[in-house]
Amino acid sequence: MHSNLALIKRYQEFLPVSDKTPIVSLGEGNTPLVAARNLPGALGYPQLSLSFKLEGLNPTGSFKDRGMTLAISKAVEARARAVICASTGNTSASAAAFATKAGLTCYVLLPAGHVALGKLAQAILYGARVIALAGNFDVALDMVRALADENNLTVVNSINPFRLEGQKTAAFEVVEQLGRAPDYLFIPVGNAGNISAYWRGFKTYKEARRADSTPKMFGFEAEGSAAMVRGQPIANPETIASAIRIGNPASWQEAARAAQESNGKIDSVSDQEILEAYALLAKHEGIFCEPSSAASLAGLIKHLKLGTVIKDATITCVLTGNGLKDPNTALELVKADLSPVAPDPSKLKEVMQL
Ligand code: F0G
Repeated sequence: MHSNLALIKRYQEFLPVSDKTPIVSLGEGNTPLVAARNLPGALGYPQLSLSFKLEGLNPTGSFKDRGMTLAISKAVEARARAVICASTGNTSASAAAFATKAGLTCYVLLPAGHVALGKLAQAILYGARVIALAGNFDVALDMVRALADENNLTVVNSINPFRLEGQKTAAFEVVEQLGRAPDYLFIPVGNAGNISAYWRGFKTYKEARRADSTPKMFGFEAEGSAAMVRGQPIANPETIASAIRIGNPASWQEAARAAQESNGKIDSVSDQEILEAYALLAKHEGIFCEPSSAASLAGLIKHLKLGTVIKDATITCVLTGNGLKDPNTALELVKADLSPVAPDPSKLKEVMQL
């Protein structure tokens, strides 16, 4: 229904826009919610009603497009000159694409050496002014804050209020696709904006009587950068999940409230648990997501084992980004023998063990 409408138009009544807002759209939103077929059984919980929200199928390959369509549309409406963001990769890819469509200059500050290859390629090819910063994401965001005002640059990180407003539409879609709110939502946590946005969305739909309930919100940081779990910022966050390699989340307070109000939890998962979940999704469900995205499933597996989660619950795991952005991690995880084989049927038969 309405799937060909721009996301902002589809949910206009819930968003801070007017009929005059010039909409910049790349065809974002309306991503599939896919029911798990094999994983509940493989994990030993066959009663589980598990689904995955495939946010990697947005136009630039991540959930960031939902917030960016609104942030860039509002920037055009306000006659912005140029936009700027700090990013672990996906925000920069999304900002660069929407800015170029709007005709705006886009500056991106990336933590040098810690951005997945596909994301870097996207930002460069969309035409952003890409700066590799000698510092991590948190330092890059500090630089953005320091530069923005006096240089008349519009910040399109999630500290821009329109970003999370746009991102809350993902919760609307989950409710529509399931026909109800799930019992639990599992989601990765980096800068802590997305879990905050989903919680806004679920609460909005309950208030609007489009859902009878709201889910328990379970958010997962990577262990080496789990500032919220530890209760203090981390100066040198480390994790293989580079998208959530963040030591001082900007939306810390709102995310903490989301977990508390919903009777959920902010917890952490190890890199090992993340990589196992990442491989399980590909192998059992045919889903290739980013390592960071798999923190949601890793968290679910952890809490199934802990007994936190009811065995026949309805659960949605948000898979935030597309695995194609980071092929290096996949190939390093699973070493395949790719030495060439002669084009000879009998030789092939032998290699294929037919
Ligand atoms: N998953 C992916 C694939 C991400 O790119 C991010 C954040 C998150 C999860 C965490 O979401 O920050 O709202 O808690 N990426 C940001 C970026 C930081 O710069 O692309 P969050």
